Formats: sequence, C-alpha cells, structure tokens
Amino acid sequence: MSEVRAILPALRELRERIARAQSLFVLTGSGISSESGLPTFRGVGGLWRTHRVEELASPDGFARDPQLVWTWYNERRAAHRAATPSVAHRALAQLEAQHADFTLATQNVDSLHLRAGSKNVIELHGHLREARCTDCAARRPLDEPLPLAAIEHACGGRWRPDIVWFGEPLPPAAWQRAIESARRADVMLVVGTSGLVAPAASIATRYAAAAYVIEINPDPTAISTHVDVCVRGRASDVLPELVA
Ligand code: APR
Repeated sequence: MSEVRAILPALRELRERIARAQSLFVLTGSGISSESGLPTFRGVGGLWRTHRVEELASPDGFARDPQLVWTWYNERRAAHRAATPSVAHRALAQLEAQHADFTLATQNVDSLHLRAGSKNVIELHGHLREARCTDCAARRPLDEPLPLAAIEHACGGRWRPDIVWFGEPLPPAAWQRAIESARRADVMLVVGTSGLVAPAASIATRYAAAAYVIEINPDPTAISTHVDVCVRGRASDVLPELVA
C-alpha cells in the first residue's frame, strides 16, 4: 500500500477527472482478477507459463484433443466459481452506478465483473458460463463440469467453451459496441492487462480517440507509452481511491 500513498495527491486529481467524465470506458485484463486468486496469463505463475496455449486455447488444439481442452476449462470454470470479486471489481461497479454513460469491456472470462454488480459489461473473449455446439445454435450451462464422455452433441457437432480462442474473431456485435463506446469516451481506465493481445489492446490505443487514458498496473506494459498517465499500483489499492 505504501507506493499508492506516495501518489495520493495525483489520485485525487484523477478521481476528480473521473467524477467529471461524461462518458467513462474501462478495459480490464486478468490482472484485476489476480487479486481474486485467479492466475494471469503471462506473469509469474501465469497460465501460459505452465500450459501450452496452442494445445488448450486454439481450434486446432480442441480438434486434436477435446478431452484435454475440456479438462482444462472444467478446472478453470471451477476456479472461477470458487473465486470472489475483489475490491477492484466492486469499485468498478460503484463507478458504473455514478456514471450514466459507462462501459466495461473485459478480456476476462471469469464472470467476476458481473458477480461484482457491473451491468454494462462487454465480454470481448467470451465467458465460461455456457458451452455452445460447434455445428448448431445449441447452448448448455456450465454450472457443473462438462462430462468428458458428453462432448459430442446429438446434432453431430461438439460442445465447446464459449471462449474466443487464438486465431478466432471476437464476437462482431461485442467488438462493435466496444469500439463505439471507446470512441465516445472522454476518460478511459485500462486495468490489469499487458496490452499484448489484439484487437482488445487496440481499444486503448487506436480507438481511444478523445479519451484521457489512465493505465492501472504495477508494471509497464505494451501500451504504457500510449496512455496519458500510468498509475503503478495494484487494482485493489488504486481503484477504490478513484471512486468519489
Ligand atoms: N492489479 C493490476 N494489474 C495487475 C495486477 C494487479 N493486482 N497483477 C498483475 N497485473 C497486470 C500485469 O502486470 C500484466 O500487465 O496484469 C497484466 C496481466 O497480463 P496478461 O497475463 O498478459 O493477461 P491479459 O492482458 O489479460 O491477457 C490478454 O491474452 O491469453 C489471452 O485471452 C487471453 O484475455 C487474455 C488476453
């Protein structure tokens, strides 16, 4: 907490700027959920440090070994359900309650923003609350792990996580909504993302046309040189200070 105290005066100025915002946009990544106990992807202990992304989060990996992929997503879904939203997730829900024009676009699939009470949430990379069939429009809830013996769907397709895998496009409607809101924003918060994955990261660079962009991250990222101010701190230490 000490490093945040050193910048409290600056946070007061940012808090006032956010309070005055006519249109507030927030982009989050796995860093905001690290304080709920969920691993990030590229940091120490990150999922891509301990798992092979091409085996688990790609259409080819799923075609090669659907049981391995479902074993992994069943584990992640169980971890999401066991996690609780952090003070950072809850601070963003409070900010939304204070702004009529508020959009939260997340790269996370853990549903923690929704569980924290955020309403206008765009899940750019999908979510793990349901599975969908590869061949038809059928969907099924993932309140329980998908049985590995039940991956095949009656229509001849396969149940897959409703997640955007590497090499797949983002859901067009979600992406369109996100960039329209980003273009409209006069203040944007970018919280807990390395900014390495396109096109989500471009929201904070290419589409934040009129916005004053505030990055909240303990470490420098690929977009740090493109934002207006970097607050070097953890989301749970900083975000509550930015809520009036
Ligand atoms: N508060 C704020 N930021 C944090 C915290 C914290 N407590 N802890 C870690 N971070 C930051 C790290 O410094 C890093 O910049 O969160 C970021 C996590 O980066 P990644 O692990 O790359 O995760 P993310 O940016 O969400 O990845 C984007 O990549 O693998 C795909 O689809 C996956 O949505 C994911 C996308």
